[in-house]
Amino acid sequence: MNRISVFRHEGHVSAEHRAALLGQKPATIWMSGLSGAGKSTLAYALERALLGEGRASYVLDGDNVRHGLNRDLGFSAQERSENIRRIAEVARLMNDAGLIVITAFISPFRADRAMARSIIGAEHFREVHVSTPLAVCEQRDPKQLYQRARRGEVAEFTGISSPYEAPSAPDLILDTSGISQDEAIKLLSRLL
Ligand code: ADX
Repeated sequence: MNRISVFRHEGHVSAEHRAALLGQKPATIWMSGLSGAGKSTLAYALERALLGEGRASYVLDGDNVRHGLNRDLGFSAQERSENIRRIAEVARLMNDAGLIVITAFISPFRADRAMARSIIGAEHFREVHVSTPLAVCEQRDPKQLYQRARRGEVAEFTGISSPYEAPSAPDLILDTSGISQDEAIKLLSRLL
């Protein structure tokens, strides 16, 4: 693409105006963790809790986004990186629109999460490690993907045949095998 012919347009309404209209501080709660760790469950429960308090939020979830915006992407390191880049750009736009964004992606690579932080902006970015141990996730196996990965039927499956790099300094660590959903939601709300 010839970037020299692409220009930016300034609108007349600032991010501060939009946030003030909604009466909230936009942020992105970025949840990372293994498949089956409980990211999506927590994300949707948090969205509901925020709605109950009159706060506008939106969940971006791996399994859903991969059916639409990112349907062209697989699970190689390069494609996961592009997955995260696009999600981060969407989250940035949603924050600019005044929304609280909650993301639920494995996002296994530290460098990709660092990229997400830099796209979204450190002032908006809250990193949460949903740290539920592999053994528990594998026991839950809601989509029977661990079972299939163990049989070698799913390539590059995170935790089995592809690495998960745990966040080194997350804002919050949640192990859903040792905490109730209500407690987890309380801790997540405090990040906002
Ligand atoms: S990420 O690594 O690129 O962040 P993402 O969160 O979007 O992953 O998608 C993960 C979901 O895709 C999992 O919950 C699982 O249902 C499904 N999936 C299919 N193949 C794989 C794989 N090889 N590794 C991890 N998850 C996979």
